[in-house]
Amino acid sequence: MEKLQISSTERSDMYDQLLPQLKALMDGESSLVANLANTAAALRQTFRFFWVGFYLVDGNELVLGPFQGDIACTRIKYGKGVCGKAWERKETIIVPDVEQFPGHIACSALSKSEIVVPVMKGDRIVAVLDVDSNMLDDFTEADEAGLNEIAVLLSAKF
Ligand code: SME
Repeated sequence: MEKLQISSTERSDMYDQLLPQLKALMDGESSLVANLANTAAALRQTFRFFWVGFYLVDGNELVLGPFQGDIACTRIKYGKGVCGKAWERKETIIVPDVEQFPGHIACSALSKSEIVVPVMKGDRIVAVLDVDSNMLDDFTEADEAGLNEIAVLLSAKF
């Protein structure tokens, strides 16, 4: 595949179009780093999100994995920030306004809203997918559903 083909401008349709292409891109590739890196790039390229990346579970903290965007915090403790909270709660967290989220970790002052989706391996969380927007209230159930499908796809690569 040389180029992603996304014709829609409506987010849930864009996820529908992206998913099979992402699947094809990862088919036959066993490298976790390569798959996470291309996923982050595909999401940023498709939606022009401000920051897209993975934090991987490493003992009692999360460590920065492949991402697209500005440099970011490298380690986040269990239960800390939006990422650590999504890990603790084992659920997706949508933050419409990061300033209103107690304990939010600001890697960039430009980030205004955020969604964090856990990546599960069985009943264990192995990583979180973190997407930041420079616009307030940028994420909806469409993002939750689309990103969750991507997380399920990635689960098999861990
Ligand atoms: N805001 C996140 C930290 C990671 S950066 O956004 C890339 C948090 O509160 O967990």
